[in-house]
Amino acid sequence: MRRVVSPGPEATLAFGAALAPLLFEGAVVLLSGDLGAGKTCFAQGVARGLGVEGPVQSPTFVLVMEYPEARVPLRHADLYRLDRYEEAAGLGLEERVGYDGAWLIEWSERFPDLWPDDRLELLFRHTPDGGRTIEAVATGSRHTPLLAAFGAEPSGA
Ligand SMILES: Nc1ncnc2c1ncn2[C@@H]1O[C@H](COP(=O)(O)OP(=O)(O)O)[C@@H](O)[C@H]1O
Ligand SMILES: [Mg+2]
Repeated sequence: MRRVVSPGPEATLAFGAALAPLLFEGAVVLLSGDLGAGKTCFAQGVARGLGVEGPVQSPTFVLVMEYPEARVPLRHADLYRLDRYEEAAGLGLEERVGYDGAWLIEWSERFPDLWPDDRLELLFRHTPDGGRTIEAVATGSRHTPLLAAFGAEPSGA
């Protein structure tokens, strides 16, 4: 496990951008934590780091935003509005996550059984001083190497 401190949005973006070069086809990054904890902000950093130039909006209402133009095709999901397992399964997530592009999944903790075991989990927390911490846990042979790089100083932070 590694924990990094993000004092402000720029740092959260930079941590995301720093992860981007390490992502690969089949990467699974689960983003959990309270509303407003910085998950979408981090995903925006990842998207920038993968070369996405257009706006990267929260997929709260569309559930899955796809960026096929990214260096690794990027899929950004937000399952906040889903209540039932069947709804999540109905999106085809079980078939696609872990295979089809690199996935960033907000509110993944609502459906813990849907995800491959080989993955990177990021837990976002508010800190009392108004900043955030990001705790990273990696499992499996494909994602464990990502952890070593995660604590590296983000450029531009
Ligand atoms: N380290 C940080 N410190 C303070 N605010 C931050 C930090 N990282 C991100 N934010 C801000 O927090 C707000 C909520 O972030 P967002 O990514 O939308 O949260 P979530 O997707 O987890 O609900 C945004 O305005 C974002 O810029
Ligand atoms: Mg969000």
